[in-house]
Amino acid sequence: MRIAAVVNGFNKIDEMGKFLAFSLHVEVLLVLALLSCSPGIVWSNTLCQQTNDEVRPHSVSITEFGAVGDGVTLNTKAFQNAIFYLNSFADKGGAKLFVPAGRWLTGSFDLISHLTLWLDKDAVILGSTNPEDWPVVDPLPSYGRGRELPGRRHKSLVYGRNLTDVIITGNNGTIDGQGSIWWSMFRNKTLDYTRPHLIELINSTGSILCIAGLSSTEGLTLYLIPRADLRLFFWMNSHVTVQKVAIFAPLDSPNTDGIDPDSSDNVCIEDCYISTGDDLIAIKSGWDEYGIAYSRPCTNIVIHRLVGKTETSAGIAIGSEMSGGVSEVHVQDVQFYDSNTAIRIKTSPGRGGYVRNIYVSNVTLTNVDIAIRFTGLFGEHPDDAYDPNALPVIEKITIKDVVGENIKTAGLIEGIEGDNFVNVCLSNIVLNVSSNYPWNCSYVKGYSDLVMPEACEPLKERIFPEHCSDCYYMSNQIQSSKSQNRGAWFMSW
Ligand SMILES: *[C@@H]1O[C@H](CO)[C@@H](O)[C@H](O)[C@H]1NC(C)=O
Ligand SMILES: *[C@@H]1O[C@H](CO)[C@@H](O)[C@H](O)[C@H]1NC(C)=O
Ligand SMILES: *[C@@H]1O[C@H](CO)[C@@H](O)[C@H](O)[C@H]1NC(C)=O
Ligand SMILES: *[C@@H]1O[C@H](CO)[C@@H](O)[C@H](O)[C@H]1NC(C)=O
Ligand SMILES: *[C@@H]1O[C@H](CO)[C@@H](O)[C@H](O)[C@H]1NC(C)=O
Ligand SMILES: *[C@@H]1O[C@H](CO)[C@@H](O)[C@H](O)[C@H]1NC(C)=O
Ligand SMILES: *[C@@H]1O[C@H](CO)[C@@H](O)[C@H](O)[C@H]1NC(C)=O
Repeated sequence: MRIAAVVNGFNKIDEMGKFLAFSLHVEVLLVLALLSCSPGIVWSNTLCQQTNDEVRPHSVSITEFGAVGDGVTLNTKAFQNAIFYLNSFADKGGAKLFVPAGRWLTGSFDLISHLTLWLDKDAVILGSTNPEDWPVVDPLPSYGRGRELPGRRHKSLVYGRNLTDVIITGNNGTIDGQGSIWWSMFRNKTLDYTRPHLIELINSTGSILCIAGLSSTEGLTLYLIPRADLRLFFWMNSHVTVQKVAIFAPLDSPNTDGIDPDSSDNVCIEDCYISTGDDLIAIKSGWDEYGIAYSRPCTNIVIHRLVGKTETSAGIAIGSEMSGGVSEVHVQDVQFYDSNTAIRIKTSPGRGGYVRNIYVSNVTLTNVDIAIRFTGLFGEHPDDAYDPNALPVIEKITIKDVVGENIKTAGLIEGIEGDNFVNVCLSNIVLNVSSNYPWNCSYVKGYSDLVMPEACEPLKERIFPEHCSDCYYMSNQIQSSKSQNRGAWFMSW
């Protein structure tokens, strides 16, 4: 007999055994019956669009523009001049800016279309510790102001706007934002403007940004950016790929998200390791009345094979800024350890917008305080002009195939009074929970099957058979692009 889907998430025989013992104990029929609710889902090994291993016809080294890699000389002009020069090759197949081994201190510089920024082994681009080397730019219209302070905001170290076909890659190089000056100014409240991101791509469409740790050796364990310190931020982009990137910021650094796709579509994040002081990945789309007015959703976000930890925040977060809407988020094969929260949705009255059609599957947790957390009263508003009656719509959230060891609380799920979060579906979740009160749910309505410890009352009703169609991806066959079965998904009995 062939069965599908239900067993995914259990990659070790003993987990499998535990699962079977549990399910046999509970209800064998349910396991089998579930299958018709959840047809076999087949993914290809990579979900991201692949870049061709590009060869740019032209290449220059940053040293040809007078750069000095001593960690002390400021090279902003060299980066700017090199990129200005390479602009003349944009319509001739593009060009490569080669950054050799060394410590290349620089202020903010702008990328151009058809550019590959290549960091060789032991190349480190270092962010200047002088805030004046980080110019100030307008706030994003969907935020109405800087996120941390009213008014403008510092520009990112590596910045791109209105671009196409940009690649940042290399042989295990590093971009180090040297964020600590910003953290201390944030902490001692001496910031003049909102803090910058490490890399920011704005309004870049129809192309791939690939931040890939290409190397002479193939494999999934080579990473490009071992020290980011500041965020990777994508606003209003289409078709962005982030692959094989490692992002490290100290666990106690303030608001150092790893990657924030914001009001963007078709973003694919794959094979990354992230350890930060805030959310590892936060999916956003604008803030209260500004986000509602701008109305640019974040959609078609794929996250695949992410490993990481955050002591204060979540592995995958949606919101809290989600006023332009967030939908079609597919998260699969992720592992979080020594973390505060694994999966989180944050919103608030005033946000408006929606979070819908979210699918999270095959999550492995170790030492995590809260596995699933929804927060309906997050607060934080840009100003007093927000509309408290602009209530967010949170619906069709499916979380399935989760195993967890040493979990404190399984779920802390708080909707909004008068604005229930609906069609939240939990399937095949087995958590070793220490709390005597593993689920705490309010203003939420949904369904569950095979959840241990047993889900809270508002989610207790079975998914199968009547509610399959109420649950995102419990009834619809997932689109499987060009892929064949890679073996692990189906099991023959
Ligand atoms: C679940 O994810 C892990 C990585 O976190 C992977 O090794 C495993 O193969 C996945 N399981 C299935 C059934 O795809
Ligand atoms: C991007 O496009 C907008 C609108 O055309 C324009 O105002 C802005 O100056 C452009 N920015 C850059 C850096 O090209
Ligand atoms: C984005 O770029 C397009 C063309 O490149 C331009 O028309 C549009 O105004 C830009 N929008 C923003 C917000 O930069
Ligand atoms: C890449 O860099 C990191 C940190 O600098 C190092 O730990 C790792 O071994 C390097 N990997 C390769 C393949 O050079
Ligand atoms: C705040 O931190 C910045 C950066 O470390 C430092 O230059 C400044 O002197 C500090 N200001 C106060 C008032 O502590
Ligand atoms: C949960 O973890 C504890 C401590 O590691 C262990 O003793 C117990 O057997 C585990 N329970 C399950 C159901 O795996
Ligand atoms: C459940 O969560 C609410 C907040 O939503 C909190 O006030 C309450 O104390 C929690 N109950 C338990 C038993 O933890």
